[in-house]
Amino acid sequence: MAITPPSNLLWWREPVARTELVWIIIAFAWGLVMFFMMIYWHGAGEQNLSNEAYRISAERFTEKTNEMIESHEVRKEGNFPVVRPPPGSDVYLIARLWHWWPILELEKGQSYRLHLSSLDWQHGFSLQPTNINVQVHPGYELVMTVEPDRAGEYAVVCNEFCGIGHHLMVGKIYVTE
Ligand code: CUA
Repeated sequence: MAITPPSNLLWWREPVARTELVWIIIAFAWGLVMFFMMIYWHGAGEQNLSNEAYRISAERFTEKTNEMIESHEVRKEGNFPVVRPPPGSDVYLIARLWHWWPILELEKGQSYRLHLSSLDWQHGFSLQPTNINVQVHPGYELVMTVEPDRAGEYAVVCNEFCGIGHHLMVGKIYVTE
C-alpha cells in the first residue's frame, strides 16, 4: 500500500504532459538509432567479428585441442606448448581457470578457423592490443574466421571476472611474417 494513495486510481488514464511526451519520443527514437547502430557497426566497425556458435562438451573440445597440439606443436614455453597450425586449418584455444591453452603461432595474411571454448565457466577473450572482445562460454564453441594482418606478439587477456586468478589469465598468440 502506498503511503499516500493517488486520488485518481486510474493513473494511466491521466493525460501525458507535452514535455514528457517529447522526452518519451526522443528516448524511443534514440533507442532505435542505437539498435540499428549495432547492425551497422557489425559491418562497418572492426571489433565485432562474425561468429558461429555450436554446442560442444568440455571433453570433446579438449580432445580436438589435444589432437591439434599433438600434430602441430613446434616448441615449449615453460609448460605451455606452442602450436603452429597450418594455414586454413581449425585452430583450438581452451579457456580455463586460469589460463589460455595452448600458445598459438599463426602466419600473417593467412586465414584460420579459430575455435574458442571454456572448460569451466565464463571467460572473456580480449585480444590485445586490438579491440577484439568475445565472450567464451562452457558448453559452446565459438568459431570465427580470422586473418591476422599484422605480425607481432598478441596477448589474450581474460575480461570476464572468473575468480581469484582472473588477473593472471593471460595467453599468447604469435603472428609471424
Ligand atoms: Cu578467465 Cu577472468
